[in-house]
Amino acid sequence: MNQSYHWQPYFEATELEQAITLPAELYVSEQAHQLDRQAIFTRSWQCVGHVSELANNGDVITAEVANKPIVILRDHEGQLRAYYNVCKHRAGPLVLQKGNVKVLSCKYHGWTYKLDGQLRTAPEMQSTPNFELCDVHLDSVNVDTWQGYLFVNLSNSPIELAKVFENIVEKIAPINLLKMQFHHRDVYDVSCNWKVYMDNYLEGYHLPHVHPGLNKLLDYKSYTTELSPWYSYQFSPLESDDNFYGDGAAHYFCVYPNLMLNILPGRCQVNIIVPSEKNQCKVIFDYYYSDLESSSTKKMIQQDLSFSDEVQDEDIAICEHVQKGLESGSYHQGRLCVKRESGVWHFQELLRRAYREVSEL
Ligand code: FES
Ligand SMILES: [Fe+2]
Repeated sequence: MNQSYHWQPYFEATELEQAITLPAELYVSEQAHQLDRQAIFTRSWQCVGHVSELANNGDVITAEVANKPIVILRDHEGQLRAYYNVCKHRAGPLVLQKGNVKVLSCKYHGWTYKLDGQLRTAPEMQSTPNFELCDVHLDSVNVDTWQGYLFVNLSNSPIELAKVFENIVEKIAPINLLKMQFHHRDVYDVSCNWKVYMDNYLEGYHLPHVHPGLNKLLDYKSYTTELSPWYSYQFSPLESDDNFYGDGAAHYFCVYPNLMLNILPGRCQVNIIVPSEKNQCKVIFDYYYSDLESSSTKKMIQQDLSFSDEVQDEDIAICEHVQKGLESGSYHQGRLCVKRESGVWHFQELLRRAYREVSEL
């Protein structure tokens, strides 16, 4: 019997008041890792970069989504396109690194494709019977942008990307993400299932215990969580007078399934959580700032980076402990705090729905 059928009782929808966590098995087993790939990562919008990386016609980048190689480019007419990075001859790779290209040329035997995906040349294939260039086309993948961020979706019938992010622009005004510039990327390998990291992000309940520094900066009592169909929104006014971000608020968005936008005055930090093994994930931090040049901002950036490192070290340590707890055999499921963990409930409800959908296929 397929393992996901065995888990089906855990996929039933729950009310917040009755909320109980997903069972430990879904965080520790190889079958659950495969289920996440099938139910979540091949069926959702995945952030693969920023449009500034595809500024010119012919610019190309690569990505991996649900372990599948993808190429994203801007064609000669300026249109964004994405394909499986897989040649139709014998599955060779078309692009190995970012760059600017006139055609996509396979690294195995040199077949070339136009940027619209159509096969253009195939060396020495003229004498091969029943072979026509016009019959061969790369498999395309959905690509779209939101506020400058690039997304792809492997599903055949994806939900509109704009719907996923509905109202975020309004909630953060006057902060304008389109005006922010990329600063740098940090990547962390964390020894926990990707959902442990997500769950942890989704509640401020752990703030007083895990993040004493952050707790001073935020106003824990007025920390609120709002739920939208595809994301949850944690909001806190910035409290201490000497905080280096200036006046304003901290906006934390967790967008289904694995994207976080941490927006403070003058900065947006994008986190992408990518499962690598059943008990390992990659946590990508991309830092964007509205100004990279002025000396006051440079100072703010330095303070922001060292403060983010401190908070991230604290989160990694607690998540790795939780993974050990989940693997210990002494934990199955636990009740969620209605007042402080509605974001965890909401995320796990979206997962349950995705699991139900593939179990019913
Ligand atoms: S696999 Fe691409 S040309 Fe052979
Ligand atoms: Fe945290």
